[in-house]
Amino acid sequence: GVAVIDFGGQYAHLISRRIRDLGVYAEIVPYWRWQEVLDDPLVKAVVLSGGPASVYDENAPQLPVEFFSNVTKPVLGICYGAQLMAHLLGGKVGPAPGGEYGRTKLVVKNSEPLFTGTPTAQDVWMSHGDQVVELPSGFEVSASTEHCRLAAFQKEPLFFAVQFHPEVAHTQFGNALLKNFVFGVAKAEVNWNITDYVSEAIREIRETVGENGMVLGALSGGVDSAVAAVLTHRALGCGRLQCLYIDTGLQRAEDEAHVRNLSKHLGLKIKVVDAKERFLKALEGVIDPEQKRKIIGNLFIQVFEEEARNLGHFDFLLQGTLYPDVIESGEGSASVIKSHHNVGGLPQSLGLKLLEPLRWLYKDEVRNMGRWLGIPEDFLMRHPFPGPGLAVRTIGPVKEEYLDILRRAHSVLERVLKEEGVYNELWQAFPVFTGVKSVGVKGDARHYGWVLAVRMVQSVDAMTADWYKAPPELLDKIASSLISEIPEISRVVYDITSKPPGTIEWE
Ligand code: XMP
Repeated sequence: GVAVIDFGGQYAHLISRRIRDLGVYAEIVPYWRWQEVLDDPLVKAVVLSGGPASVYDENAPQLPVEFFSNVTKPVLGICYGAQLMAHLLGGKVGPAPGGEYGRTKLVVKNSEPLFTGTPTAQDVWMSHGDQVVELPSGFEVSASTEHCRLAAFQKEPLFFAVQFHPEVAHTQFGNALLKNFVFGVAKAEVNWNITDYVSEAIREIRETVGENGMVLGALSGGVDSAVAAVLTHRALGCGRLQCLYIDTGLQRAEDEAHVRNLSKHLGLKIKVVDAKERFLKALEGVIDPEQKRKIIGNLFIQVFEEEARNLGHFDFLLQGTLYPDVIESGEGSASVIKSHHNVGGLPQSLGLKLLEPLRWLYKDEVRNMGRWLGIPEDFLMRHPFPGPGLAVRTIGPVKEEYLDILRRAHSVLERVLKEEGVYNELWQAFPVFTGVKSVGVKGDARHYGWVLAVRMVQSVDAMTADWYKAPPELLDKIASSLISEIPEISRVVYDITSKPPGTIEWE
């Protein structure tokens, strides 16, 4: 497969995601584990990711020069990775005048091998403050933009570098470039397919849990924990997996019903715990988003522990942790953007070992796996939902009255999107309770009601996201359905912020 060395950018996952889409296994490796990349015979090619640092920063993530003198497999540097390659091999990096951000026209001078089969002029996505200003000896430039002469450069047969981001969708021939690198240059083989991976995952679960191990599965109402549970059920059979669903009162209206249906349909053993009151009480008067997350995370652990003890003895805790969560929570070099309570927040005092059979997978790989395991399609295609739930979609204090509005609004929005056939085109779509009131007219009377914001985004993996360019008719239908079906609302506004700079959730 391909090793993607991570220098702390938001882009490493996107790179690995794209490579897996080509059918080649890709894995993210933090930069300080470069030696493993050199030594592992299964690694056929290396990508150096982007990152926020400048190569001249004192604490910039670095590779030693030996990395380049010892490497025997092709290396593709992207953005920071390109600058680092040039810098360490004797070239020069300097500030790009004014920086270069967004869609940029690239002119290809030498299409071999990275630009094979693509036109001379093409759009690429740039996002950089520094750039390479002088090539190391033996390197040749292969493409330029107006403000970046050395936008792509190489020294065959091993070293390739691009200042732009081939992994983002805005780069017109980004996939072609990655394909040219992975297959054309590195001669990697197609070796990654999720249905084959199912048997490997099942084998691994059996091996980890052993002959008699007992597993406690945390169900959240979402896709990941459900797929993890069904997979584990397949691996271990009925007797050794007990699932637990905690109703925090912060979930979507349909979550519990979905969990119960799924359990019935697929034969999971499940206990549902009503903890609504406890969560509301703990959140009383809290307005700070991170504080909300901490309170919910801690209480979740506490309730979970109490219930787990009542359910008997277990050896393992099953979690539906996905690959991006593993890295974003600080195991890689990417900074922690938000504290995600579903990672690292395991109830430690239970002394359970972790079972995370999805920790190497991306969301749509999990969906494919779920499909193969017989989980119904409409459940699999549900949008992701954050652990702290509606609490981080309620701006200001969390009250049952507001949650109730949000739950109803969520169901209305979801129904309209399904009726209009756009639900599956979106990564997420949800209402936000803004905590602001505004005047409207309902019937003949002045109506002082709540302002509801609607957020709809498209994304590959939530690392970046575009606000959904909804047709006006759809927005109209959403707004009028929400206002007519939810009397407490007087006004609907639409969030037109992409990520970055916004995050998907409001809090
Ligand atoms: P942001 O808001 O950071 O969200 O752009 C990216 C994705 O992560 C989800 N999200 C969370 N998921 N616990 C979770 O399990 C959390 O605390 C959390 N915060 C955000 C969000 O819904 C989006 O899909």
